[in-house]
Amino acid sequence: MSKFYVTTPIYYVNDKPHIGHAYTTILADVLTRYHKAIGDDTFFLTGLDEHGQKVFQAAQKRNVTPLQHCNEMAPRFIELWKKLGIEYSDFIRTTEDRHIKVVQEALQKTFDRGDIYADEYEGWYSVAEERFITETEKDSGQFRDVTRLKEKNWFFKMSKYQQKLINHINDNPGFIQPEHRRNEVLGFLKQPLGDLCISRPKSRMSWGIELPFDKDYVTYVWYDALINYVSAVGCFTDEEKFKKWWPVSVHLIGKDILTTHSVYWSTMLFSLELPLPETIFAHGWWLIGQTKMSKSLGNVVNPLDLVEQYGVDCVRYYLMKEMILGQDANFTPEGFIKCYNSDLANDFGNLLNRVSGLINRLFDGKIPPAEKKDPADDIVEQSAKKLPANVEKLITELKVQEAIAATMDLVRLVNGYIESQAPWKVAKTDLPRAGTILYTATEALRLAAFLLSAVMPSKCNLVLDILGAGDSGRRWGELKRGIKLKTHEALFPRLEVDKK
Ligand code: MSP
Repeated sequence: MSKFYVTTPIYYVNDKPHIGHAYTTILADVLTRYHKAIGDDTFFLTGLDEHGQKVFQAAQKRNVTPLQHCNEMAPRFIELWKKLGIEYSDFIRTTEDRHIKVVQEALQKTFDRGDIYADEYEGWYSVAEERFITETEKDSGQFRDVTRLKEKNWFFKMSKYQQKLINHINDNPGFIQPEHRRNEVLGFLKQPLGDLCISRPKSRMSWGIELPFDKDYVTYVWYDALINYVSAVGCFTDEEKFKKWWPVSVHLIGKDILTTHSVYWSTMLFSLELPLPETIFAHGWWLIGQTKMSKSLGNVVNPLDLVEQYGVDCVRYYLMKEMILGQDANFTPEGFIKCYNSDLANDFGNLLNRVSGLINRLFDGKIPPAEKKDPADDIVEQSAKKLPANVEKLITELKVQEAIAATMDLVRLVNGYIESQAPWKVAKTDLPRAGTILYTATEALRLAAFLLSAVMPSKCNLVLDILGAGDSGRRWGELKRGIKLKTHEALFPRLEVDKK
């Protein structure tokens, strides 16, 4: 048994959760469920990023305190995760005491090492991005709310760790994935790395964690936020827990926050003398047409609408199947319906209908024994036997999309097998042989349902329950003969296009 610790970014509490947020969180949930199924000890962390200027301003606008504002916003995420079947181990909010204390201790330790110093800084500041930007960035016109600021601030000596970070990336090919993102970071590190401004004067913005060595300042929201990955698992407070989970197996992030994770976070950890994450994985964006889905662009797809209309499992399935990890993907209602009808209604749902219909008709609803084998069964049996190990390998490599595709290949293979073996015809002359075909097909369906249950927990568990195989595992042949199938409705009723 090994351990698997996975995180999502902690989302800005102000945001209305959309498909992009849902995607990362479902992905973490799917990976966790797969790892649980192979017996790993798992920890899945998500949560909310609650400090910083944007939250402060939003609260001011609503005439409430920032904390009150956060408390009112947080349930939107928690409820969405519940509706999406997300089973996290911990949900951290950066306004919690357990987090604040760890951030302050981390700051103090870094300060004591001599890695934090004060300096006067004048530059362009993007309120929207909550950071100082370079002249070139300002000229690019890509930043909103840019103002000139001059103030004393505290800086973290990020530059001190530049070479160490480059070496680490070179020595650990799996550290930043996929590979093109790793190259991007190495490219970025070819320029001299500046130091990181990690404070904000309270006179300008007081909503944050106070610096333990200067009461007039709060810490920069990113320094605060990144610490969540260690504060939640007992850093500085529960040595045993921390040792068990840290370093994290994988930080799942969107490509938009690659630099903060691979450069800021890694150098912060170097200074704290803590191990670096095993993997930082940056996935692509969900696009609508050619543009990123985002609240400010007003083109967001609300996951709750989809779940209410079509059910949670197919939303999870579509998101996992449609995005090749690392690349951008396009969300379209047409694509969603097509995926539902072809994979879920025609292939997976239909396989259940066929086997249960035939077993009901020919065997009084009881799973027949596989007494009369034929070489034609081998291809199904052999593919099914190989599948669990293959899926496990793909999941370990974070290739969820390929793991799903491999499982659906088996489902399609079995549909073809039933077609060519035609057990309804065979039954007229050779009932034991028809029973064997149906056992083989049903066992393959059981295995597919077992392997897809990380992606579609409720529908797959329903299938296993119908087959009387609720506690079965990944070995071929676990389906029990003689069990009476439970009656059921169509698993995924076909969607008519006009229902769109
Ligand atoms: N609060 C920071 C993260 C701090 S982590 C220590 C933040 N939050 S966010 O609310 O903006 O969420 C960012 C994450 O949401 C992205 O990295 C990505 O995981 C997900 N997505 C947001 N929009 C997305 C798309 N359009 N497509 C895919 N995922 C995107 O940044």
